[in-house]
Amino acid sequence: MSKQPIPVLLDGDPGHDDAMAWMLAAASPALKILSVTSCSGNQTIEKTTNNALRVMALLGINAPMAMGGTPMLGKEMPVPAVHGASGLDGADLPEPKQAPVDPPAVELMAQVIRSSPDPVTIVPTGPLTNVAALFAAHPELKSRVERISLMGGGIAHGNWTPAAEFNILVDPEAARLVFQSGIPILMAGLDVTEKALVCPEDFGRIRAVGNPVAVTVADWLEFFYQFHKTMDYPGAPIHDAVAVAALVKPEILTVREMYVDVEVSGDYCMGCTVGDWHGTSGHKPNTRVLLDIDREAFVDLLVEAVKTYGEVR
Ligand code: RIB
Ligand code: CA
Repeated sequence: MSKQPIPVLLDGDPGHDDAMAWMLAAASPALKILSVTSCSGNQTIEKTTNNALRVMALLGINAPMAMGGTPMLGKEMPVPAVHGASGLDGADLPEPKQAPVDPPAVELMAQVIRSSPDPVTIVPTGPLTNVAALFAAHPELKSRVERISLMGGGIAHGNWTPAAEFNILVDPEAARLVFQSGIPILMAGLDVTEKALVCPEDFGRIRAVGNPVAVTVADWLEFFYQFHKTMDYPGAPIHDAVAVAALVKPEILTVREMYVDVEVSGDYCMGCTVGDWHGTSGHKPNTRVLLDIDREAFVDLLVEAVKTYGEVR
């Protein structure tokens, strides 16, 4: 008897790696996408919303989509140097096939969670603005969320400051609320995502699959690698796809349980995800921190996923 698919809510700031994470999610029979919501991060909320709709059209994701919010206290922090002026440069994308639904992201997420017969998994791949707002407005829904599989943070280091990873830094107050929510967290932080590299020699494997999604993913990889090449990465770190890989192929990942909290102030450490590696805080672990990945198996997973878009589905 095959297992029931995991009901998931995708929330992100596409963003090349968000788009590839969603490609992996939509290709996997192990997941059922209940909703897609946008957040402000890689680009402004307007641009990430438009990108989300275009990616859904490309992938054929049949789910409601809602526009999310901007950071709780801070301002938007678009990063055109990484993802381009549109937030998803490098490939021609189809026009949206749907408009965002009327209720904003938080209310769509709440509706979807309430109507799901089974507890859901939330997969945030951008700043945690919407997820924090969801539980602030509807704390009673926490019991209907099995886990949050997020890309964000880093125990050993940051990438936007020495201490902070981008998603957490954009909205540290939201991140603290999510890590303190009591919901089990599966954290794909930089410790693992900077090892989730798709290298130039892999780009050809994906492009050779030949269907429109495969060609688009290869174009995204080429663009996304340009910034990372200047940072001496040997390949493109597909950060966000690790939060999905952890659900569909957990055996390729190494995990360590620990208590994690978020620094929300400080000259050097604002946005740092502080991991209690040796259990000295007195807090019980709240997070399964992903630390390592079988990179070859990860690339194979992406190649197999793009192949599904050429088959009758
Ligand atoms: O630090 C990497 C994260 O920031 C990824 O989610 C990427 O899409 C950007 O949002
Ligand atoms: Ca992202």
